[in-house]
Amino acid sequence: MILGVNVDHIATVRQARLGTEPDPVMAATLALLGGADGITIHLREDRRHINDRDLGMLRDFVTAELNLEMAATDEMINIALKKLPDMVTLVPEKRQELTTEGGLNLRENRASLKKAVRLLKDNGVRTSLFINPSLEDIDLSKEIGVDMVEIHTGNFANARGDVRERELIRVADSIARALENGLGANAGHGLNYHNVTAIAELSGIRGLYIGHSIISRAVLTGMERAVREMKDLLWQACPRQ
Ligand code: PXP
Repeated sequence: MILGVNVDHIATVRQARLGTEPDPVMAATLALLGGADGITIHLREDRRHINDRDLGMLRDFVTAELNLEMAATDEMINIALKKLPDMVTLVPEKRQELTTEGGLNLRENRASLKKAVRLLKDNGVRTSLFINPSLEDIDLSKEIGVDMVEIHTGNFANARGDVRERELIRVADSIARALENGLGANAGHGLNYHNVTAIAELSGIRGLYIGHSIISRAVLTGMERAVREMKDLLWQACPRQ
């Protein structure tokens, strides 16, 4: 099973100061050193975190799977056709949302998704659709002609008790249906160090795409060292005080 690490949240911290650090490109390098099988970025219409420079630089050096999440708009399709990421995951996008809130509405957007998938595939880019765990959506994905799906695990991640068990079964059934349809089955959203095992144990999953929990842990596990390095500088500058 592959792990794609989403570095958007590094860029979110950078954008808080509109500066240059922390750099998502450097974070991607470290994620790859740590064993990530791929890097995911979501280039949003409003460029609120990842920007065009990040995509360009990552395309230049990531030889593992570079997965570009994007809306199926003309602007984004043109960018993807120019930069040629290894894989594009088409996602719904709303300006005000904190994060991608649900899977694509495949029924409503069938024609535009089909067109985007065709253009990308014709140019050698593997395609995936971010969808809710629903058998109907898996079948529609097959009809749209995509290579893979990414099943939204947000409801599973937020649920407790019996509801969580039911959500897990929905994800498992969706994976099984995707495989029957000859589609690669990925999953992601809301996965963390406590809930990932249940999803990773489901048979047939190709890959998991995880961001927030990994970046959150990195901030905390790196805190002690970051403070120590600042203290060392202070001591070197002013050893007696
Ligand atoms: N997959 C997709 C399509 C997403 O939009 C996101 C969020 O950026 C993720 C996976 C990762 O979700 P999380 O940050 O909750 O791990």
